[in-house]
Order: sequence, then C-alpha cells, then structure tokens
Amino acid sequence: MNLAANTSTPHAVADLNLDPYWMPYTHNRYFKKHQPLDRMLVGAEGAYYTTVEGQRLFDCLSGLWCSSLGHRPAKIVEAVKNQLDRADYIPAFQMANPESFRLAERIADVAPADLNRVFFTNSGSEAVDTALKIALAYHRLKGDASRTRFIGREKGYHGVGFGGVSVGGMVANRKMFAAAMIPGVDHLPHTHNLKEMAFSKGLPTWGAHLADDLERIVALHDASTIAAVIVEPMQGSVGVVVPPVGYLKRLREICDKHGILLIFDEVITGFGRMGDWFGAQAFGVTPDLITFAKCVNNGTVPMGGVIARQGIYDMFMQGPDYAVEFFHGYTYSAHPLAVAAAHATLDILHEDEVPKRFATLAAKIENGAHALKGEPNVIDIRNCGAAAAIEMSPLAGQVGVRGLRVFEEALKRGMLLRFTGDTIAMAPPVVTTDAELDRMFSAVGDAIRAAG
Ligand SMILES: Cc1ncc(COP(=O)(O)O)c(C=O)c1O
Repeated sequence: MNLAANTSTPHAVADLNLDPYWMPYTHNRYFKKHQPLDRMLVGAEGAYYTTVEGQRLFDCLSGLWCSSLGHRPAKIVEAVKNQLDRADYIPAFQMANPESFRLAERIADVAPADLNRVFFTNSGSEAVDTALKIALAYHRLKGDASRTRFIGREKGYHGVGFGGVSVGGMVANRKMFAAAMIPGVDHLPHTHNLKEMAFSKGLPTWGAHLADDLERIVALHDASTIAAVIVEPMQGSVGVVVPPVGYLKRLREICDKHGILLIFDEVITGFGRMGDWFGAQAFGVTPDLITFAKCVNNGTVPMGGVIARQGIYDMFMQGPDYAVEFFHGYTYSAHPLAVAAAHATLDILHEDEVPKRFATLAAKIENGAHALKGEPNVIDIRNCGAAAAIEMSPLAGQVGVRGLRVFEEALKRGMLLRFTGDTIAMAPPVVTTDAELDRMFSAVGDAIRAAG
C-alpha cells in the first residue's frame, strides 16, 4: 500500500492494486483483468477527457449525461473555489445557506407552470425516492390515504434506491432484489417497438395508444388506490427510447381524469438537453412533480432534487408551525459546493442560451446518427433532443458483447461512448463543434465495422 501514491502516470497506474475498489455498474473482473490504461481518466477539459497515458478522448456522453456544458467551465470552477473559501458545510436541517433559497427560486423560475417548490437531494436515485414519498404523503394529508400504489414503466430507469428499482423496469436491476421490491407497483408497457418504429427520426408516430394501458391498470385496482405514475419523458439510460407523438399528453389526461399524480423523472432530460429547460416544456406536458440531478450543476458536485407543484407543497403546510412537516432530508441536501456550482451552471445556461443551442445541436445529431443506417448489424437508430442511440443486433447467445466491442473500438479511435447491452448512446456537450460531431459519427461508423 502506498498512501501517497501519485496515480497520474501510466507507470503508477500499472502498479495500482485494483482489487479493493468495487466498481459501480462495471464488469469488475473484465476491467481488472485487462487493466485498461485507456479507461483510466485523470483529466477533463471542455469536450475531452485525458487518459493516464495522455490520450484525449472525446466525451460522447457528457460524462454520464451530466457534464452538458463540457468539463470545468471557468465560471463553475471559480464558484466552487470561492464557496470553499467562505464555508465548506452548512447544516441543512433547521439551518440554511441563503444561497439555497436563491437557487430554489432560480430553478422554480425555469420550471414549467406552478412547479415552484424545490426539495434538494444528492442524486437522481434520492430524487426519485423523495418524489415517491412526497406523492404518498400528499394523498394521505389530503385524506386519500388509500392511494398507495405506484405505476412505473417497463425499461424505465429511476436509479438504484428500493423505490426507484421498484418502479423501474430494467430486469437486471430488479431480479436480484425481487424480495425487497416495494409492494403495490404496476408497470406500463414500454414504447420501444422495432417493427413499428425502427429508424424513426425524433418522436415515433406510432405508439400513443400504449398510454391507454393506464386505464387497464386503473380498472384493475381502482383509481382510489393509485398515488402516482412515474416515467422518464425520454428514456435515456436504456438507450434513448423516445416517447411516441401524443403519448405523454395521453398519460397526463388519464392521470387528471383519475386524480393520479404524474411524476416526470427528468434526471437526464432536465436543464437543456431536450432543447428546452425541461422535457416537460419540450414535449408540452406539465407533470405534478419533476425529479432532476446531473446537469443542474454540470455534474460538478453531487446534487439532485424534486420540483413540486405549489398545491402539493401547500398540502404539507398544515398543523402547528413549530412542527416539521416532512420527515425527510439528507445531511448533504443543498450542499454549499453543489449550490455554488448550480448557480454558476444556471448563469451559463441563461447567458449562453444553452437550451436553444442544444436544439440546434439536436438537428445535427439527428442527421449524423441516421446517416449510420446500413452499417453492419445496426437494427435501429433513435434520436431525441441532443441525444441519439444506435442499437445493434446481439451476437448469438452473448447479449452485450457487440456493444462492448464497439465501445472498445471507439476508445481506440479517441471516442468515449456509453453502451448498454448492444445499444450505444451519444449525448455530447453543448460546446461540441460541427467538426467534432463529424469526427464522432465517422469514428462510430468505423468502430461498428471493426467490431463486426
Ligand atoms: C432518469 C434517471 N433517474 C434516476 C437516475 C439515477 O441517478 P443517480 O445515478 O444520480 O442516482 C438516473 C441516472 O442515470 C436516470 O437517468
């Protein structure tokens, strides 16, 4: 063990003991066996990472969908450093950093309609579990205590808390923990149908009717038992599964008809990527609760949160005013460093009109991605906002191997992609130039052919 080891040189990294670190969402054995120096990152600047060997990698997915402005914008770096010079940690319970109030106001200003009350968490997973708790407690306070059921969607990803896994719809995330799923959860069918919508540009025209399945679930359980429906407006983690035209509006109508809260999980779609501040505005549908994380502060310091309609917040504000209204919160809710980074991020989002710039980038991404139709094994190409995915047929009996190969071939070509199963996703930072976009799509085509 070398406590003072400098891990910034290839030599030092080659000597690292890789065993103790249990890597999240990673094939630990494969990674540790191959000791890939091209996957050890030590620097980040603009749209690029630098590996420990000094290779520059173009950041095709903005980190993990979070660094949408590119890495280390000067304004954010300065804001975090300045905050650290003033105060490091400020308790979030019964005390507050004034900047947290100002941040909540700024987030409310860009959120749709009367979603104007903001609860801070540290991650998307916590945001989701917080939103589910708010929905349950809201109905109870309203006198509807029998509304306890949740409805998620197949292929949905809502993080890794027990609530989020229960309403989520990705089997690998669920099967190990089946015994501990929260009770009373149903799932809407997913909207991904290769036969009907493969290679759709933007929103598929087929599939709005899939929202009607909510009526079937209501008929099965009765509306009086259902608290909330939670969906990602665009399913990012599963590989850019795009809502069919009219689908989200239909969900909203059915929820309204039956007094069910609608939660949009905007951990990926929030803060610009969809060409508007939130997916809610981009798709023209207003939910009751929005969860956010990631791009709220460009992934600089962990932060997430829930934005609630005022009426939901007001429902909690009853009883004696010395009593805590919502027994929920995190030690690091609205951590001062995260708040400082978020203010600087919002400054940039406004000053540089980032949502609009993402709308411009979106059109280019659509063209670039769909030009890859016809490459070997490509069975679908999808795009939505400034994001796209390419789905490939799996190798016989080895789901995920082709995706891994493309990922590795792309790394050799200086591109850091994200793969999930045999689908690769791209959502580059807003600072991406036309030339970089061209290089990215050309390298992805080469990687697909080389992977075979
Ligand atoms: C829609 C959605 N919800 C929740 C999460 C979980 O966020 P975190 O990893 O910050 O807990 C993610 C992460 O990708 C996500 O995409």
